[in-house]
Amino acid sequence: MNGIEFRNVTKRYGTDASAPMAVKGISFEVPVGTLTTILGPSGCGKTTTLRMIAGLESPTSGSIFMGGRDVTTLGPAERNVSMMFQSYALFPHMNVIENVGYGLRMSGVKKNEATDRAREALRGVGLVGFDERLPSELSGGQQQRVALARALVLEPAVLLFDEPLSNLDARLRREMREEIRALQQRLKLTVAYVTHDQSEALAVSDQIIVMDHGVIAQRGTPEQLYGRPESEFVAGFMGEAMVFPAVAEADGSVALGPLRLQPRYAVAPGTVKVAVRPEAWRIGASGLSGVSGAGGGLPATLRKAAYLGSFYEYGFDTTLGPVFVVSTDLSQPLAAGAQATLSLGAHGVSVVPGP
Ligand SMILES: Nc1ncnc2c1ncn2[C@@H]1O[C@H](COP(=O)(O)OP(=O)(O)O)[C@@H](O)[C@H]1O
Ligand SMILES: [Mg+2]
Repeated sequence: MNGIEFRNVTKRYGTDASAPMAVKGISFEVPVGTLTTILGPSGCGKTTTLRMIAGLESPTSGSIFMGGRDVTTLGPAERNVSMMFQSYALFPHMNVIENVGYGLRMSGVKKNEATDRAREALRGVGLVGFDERLPSELSGGQQQRVALARALVLEPAVLLFDEPLSNLDARLRREMREEIRALQQRLKLTVAYVTHDQSEALAVSDQIIVMDHGVIAQRGTPEQLYGRPESEFVAGFMGEAMVFPAVAEADGSVALGPLRLQPRYAVAPGTVKVAVRPEAWRIGASGLSGVSGAGGGLPATLRKAAYLGSFYEYGFDTTLGPVFVVSTDLSQPLAAGAQATLSLGAHGVSVVPGP
């Protein structure tokens, strides 16, 4: 059963038919009880997509289903969704319990029951003993929890988040994203979560939808998107990757300079690109042949090295140009000027269409 389903949805703002589309015909499903992130750079259409799920914008064409029901023409009140925004906008003059109970009161729930349910929701997000505080008397993380409880207390069929953590510092961001994920799994919530941060998407998602200029560039599990990007855009957006021009041979292999790769999917002979994660490189001693088979390794000269505590970052010069390598081998650090032979491991290397 799908909590959310988009069928070929487009969105153009305003009435001018020549205006560009913000969303250009996207289709996807969010299964009930799972979390999907919509990931992409600023302006790619993430918020527009989320607002169409919420019923705050209506599609220009296409259909939206929720729980099997066609909701395309229904307003927000008829959809059983809650949305949590980037600026969580608590009511400043209301205390915590009133903030959380407000939506219930608005929908006619009696004061005592609203208070009880608000307290229960606050317990669910780990915020106990702050009922009487005003938002101004809370830390950023606590305000975040109040906003989360306020969305949860309505027991929506679908919960929507638009960049909920972008106002928090790095440590709190990590903590909150883990809590949101744990809560989602515990309560089996159906969630659509917008972010432009790929590590956040990797950490919390069952499914990631990468958007680019109003279209879906690729969707799949975090493992699929990180490990098997199908385009240069996705490879570059899902974490660091360097992209090199390469040649697909008639025998199905791909030549990357002196390195030979076996792509996971058949590629037509001709010019292609190879996206390489910095951790995919293996550093061998100079003159050794690489592990990637025929052709040996890629001769490289270390230009610079940086120690980052749990790993080294190396910048090599090679015939392919500069190559950025991350190495967790802390036992034998290389010094600038060192000669080495680079080869590629099986993970973190993707052949994508070129040129
Ligand atoms: N209310 C609006 N009126 C006109 N254009 C809009 C409106 N909201 C967003 N857009 C445009 O639609 C495109 C997608 O915007 P948005 O969905 O906000 O992207 P994102 O959330 O990924 O940054 C952008 O080009 C943006 O300028
Ligand atoms: Mg946005």
